[in-house]
Amino acid sequence: MAAKGLGILGSGRGSNCRAILERIRAGDLCAEARVVVSDVVDAGILEIAREFGVSQVYLPPGNFRTRLSTESELALVRILRDSAVELVVLAGFMRVLKRPALEAFPHRILNIHPSLLPRFPGLEAWKQALVAGETVTGCTVHYVDAGVDRGEIIAQREVPILPQDTPESLHERIQIAERQLYPAVIAELCD
Ligand code: GRF
Repeated sequence: MAAKGLGILGSGRGSNCRAILERIRAGDLCAEARVVVSDVVDAGILEIAREFGVSQVYLPPGNFRTRLSTESELALVRILRDSAVELVVLAGFMRVLKRPALEAFPHRILNIHPSLLPRFPGLEAWKQALVAGETVTGCTVHYVDAGVDRGEIIAQREVPILPQDTPESLHERIQIAERQLYPAVIAELCD
């Protein structure tokens, strides 16, 4: 079976990216990470790409705060195409993708979100769940479309909220679940 070409996008420390690259290295995820792209010049995710010998690119995002400039998003599409990316994996990418990327990769962009969508879309979803007094939250892998955290849901994993939880302890428990769920979902899609 031919390995699927992945392009991984992130703005932060990259623990999900690391989990995916480890599974590829272990031989139980039939995919090849072709490029890692970040809009943050010193993001940990770029360092992780270097560590795993994956080509990595800093993409200057332009002047907006929550999305890429059109020029920057067109440059992103070029980078992904030139790297023969077939599946785009958002792993903590903090900007909303717009038409250029969505039209270039229809139904081929995934995201992981730290709640059981459609509950708690948006920022700091673990805090939202805690404040709402939930006893269970989790994480969701979904396709990315024009809505924020609203695309078709592919898989979810539940995570309990414990009485003594702080935002930090809950976030950490959700991230442990993310690092299991995301590579497993990608492996299934690549099959
Ligand atoms: C994850 O918790 C994910 O749910 C959210 O961004 C975070 C990225 O963390 N979309 P990391 O950079 O993979 O450690």
